[in-house]
Amino acid sequence: MQLEGIKIILGITGSIAAYKSAFLTRLLVKEGATVKVVMTPLAKEFITPVTLATLSRNTVLSDFFSYDDGHWNSHVELGVWADLFLCAPASANTMAKMAHGICDNLLLTTYLSARCPVMIAPAMDLDMFRHPATTDNLEILQSRGNIIVEPSSGELASGLCGKGRMEEPEIILKRIISFFSEKNSPLPLSGKKVLVTAGPTHEPIDPVRYIGNRSSGKMGFAIATELAVRGAEVTLVSGPVSIESDHPRIKRIRVKTAAGMYSECMKWFPECNGCIMAAAVADYMPLTAKSSKIKRGEGNYTIEMKPAPDILKELGRIKQPGHILAGFALETENEKVNAGKKLHDKNLDFIVLNSLRDEGAGFNCDTNKISILSPDGSAIDYEMKTKAEVAVDIVNHLSALMKIKYGGQA
Ligand code: CTP
Repeated sequence: MQLEGIKIILGITGSIAAYKSAFLTRLLVKEGATVKVVMTPLAKEFITPVTLATLSRNTVLSDFFSYDDGHWNSHVELGVWADLFLCAPASANTMAKMAHGICDNLLLTTYLSARCPVMIAPAMDLDMFRHPATTDNLEILQSRGNIIVEPSSGELASGLCGKGRMEEPEIILKRIISFFSEKNSPLPLSGKKVLVTAGPTHEPIDPVRYIGNRSSGKMGFAIATELAVRGAEVTLVSGPVSIESDHPRIKRIRVKTAAGMYSECMKWFPECNGCIMAAAVADYMPLTAKSSKIKRGEGNYTIEMKPAPDILKELGRIKQPGHILAGFALETENEKVNAGKKLHDKNLDFIVLNSLRDEGAGFNCDTNKISILSPDGSAIDYEMKTKAEVAVDIVNHLSALMKIKYGGQA
């Protein structure tokens, strides 16, 4: 039993996914947790308190007081009692209220009183989930330290297909177990925040065309995953790629252009301990993007270009003593000299050099051959490896620098 002695409040809101909470309750109890269920009034329309009281072996709470004897259900006591407040399923309505401090039912007053960590498993229709109001609320909740168990994609109760299904109870259980085991024995990069960029940027020419490059995003995603596995909270700002990241400690931010990547990096970098800039950002972008499709004409067509923001250089300029900043250099000649120059120009702590001369290295392949250059002029050359193995080498280097800067086991 992996949750022996752990006290959990399970908050259930009005969603068709409430039926999954019965199974979730059973799984938690089987692992040794003590579960107290709090339901919103609407949740009782989807699943009966009798089912949940039986499975949790505890009285289910929903009202501020008992209508029979006037007994007061203290949300404060509940909030102090628990080791974890788990809201599953969390409807769009309840998340909006949580984000804005509204407390018009027992579940919400308990949430506001809870001193313990909070885990939220949203469930709703795909359009509700991607509505800016919901994404903003989720961002607020996440920024306050609430752990979001991202919903999965699939068939929804509405008959539509998309992202919004509450994650399966077995997966939520795994998240809870790893949360408590990591709390007891922290991972080496626990508590560290790292910004990673990945993929290409697409600079629009007109509504249907863009200037891009062949970056697949694989290297940046592998670095983000390696950091997350070691306990870091990763903000992954990625250009258009066809790969997904599913690690719960990776917050994925999708951008299209160099300008979009620039503003997201400027937003997240100050609160991070480090940044690895693996994206293949455009150096130039069209002076103006045409608002309608360019028609074929006679003769040549010229696109005037202007410099794109140099994101890494700007991060190097605003870098504080607590930051470790790393970039990539893709070179075709005078590799180490050029990479060393970039390292100094952009005020980096190290630079990862790929040479396009090495077959199997660089863009759009699963392997890479790198050298890591440091400001003191030293260089470490690595063998050709898979991108996942290269990510291990890069994160080892970053961890060693973090250990020097912050001490501890990083
Ligand atoms: N980079 C960036 N913003 C840009 C271009 C590049 O932040 N507009 C970052 C890349 O993510 C990489 C590093 O700068 O980490 C070096 O990129 P690279 O293209 O090799 O170098 P540039 O500085 O663009 O110089 P050049 O293309 O002339 O070699």
